[in-house]
Amino acid sequence: MFHVEHLFNQLIIFYKIRKEPFPDKELSMLQELSAEERHKISTCIQLFQEERRNLIPILQRIQESLAYLPPEAIQMVAKYLHLSDGEVYGVATFYNQFRFHPPGKHPLKVCLGTACHVRGGDIILENFERKLGIREGQTSPDREFSIDRVACVGCCALAPVALVGEKVYGHMAPSKVEGLILGFQIEKERQEREKLKDDSEKS
Ligand code: FES
Repeated sequence: MFHVEHLFNQLIIFYKIRKEPFPDKELSMLQELSAEERHKISTCIQLFQEERRNLIPILQRIQESLAYLPPEAIQMVAKYLHLSDGEVYGVATFYNQFRFHPPGKHPLKVCLGTACHVRGGDIILENFERKLGIREGQTSPDREFSIDRVACVGCCALAPVALVGEKVYGHMAPSKVEGLILGFQIEKERQEREKLKDDSEKS
């Protein structure tokens, strides 16, 4: 019978053999979490007993709560379960359900299901990545955009498809990628201008 604990132990052994370090890149992105975020992580952890087989459910719970797994959460979970940071990070990266960057204000998702892939979904993804200077799974430094790939979202007739939040954009093309990003940037600038105007009127 398939045994979750057995699989977990195999993963730990696998990552120990690889000596997967906790990546410096991730550590360098260690952002100061708010007290509230830290409290949320700790609440999620405390829901489970201090057993290694609870690693994945704990990580899932934290992601449900924060929408991603910050490096500090990895460290807190590792400490709680008496594992190394690298072991926890290694197991988490094995599953593509986990994300390690906070979602952007405009979360971009590019469909790479079969229909979208055949119609150039990967080119659309590449265009978003190039335009924003980030890779899939990452968030722009200003936290405006994040990019993720998704499987079929059920609008194959509109392939290739991208989503911004829940809104579907069909028949995507490189020029549409450009237009979409530009639209958000123009809107952001407009909001900033309005805020400045409001502030100066108040003072
Ligand atoms: S494959 Fe992209 S919507 Fe179905």
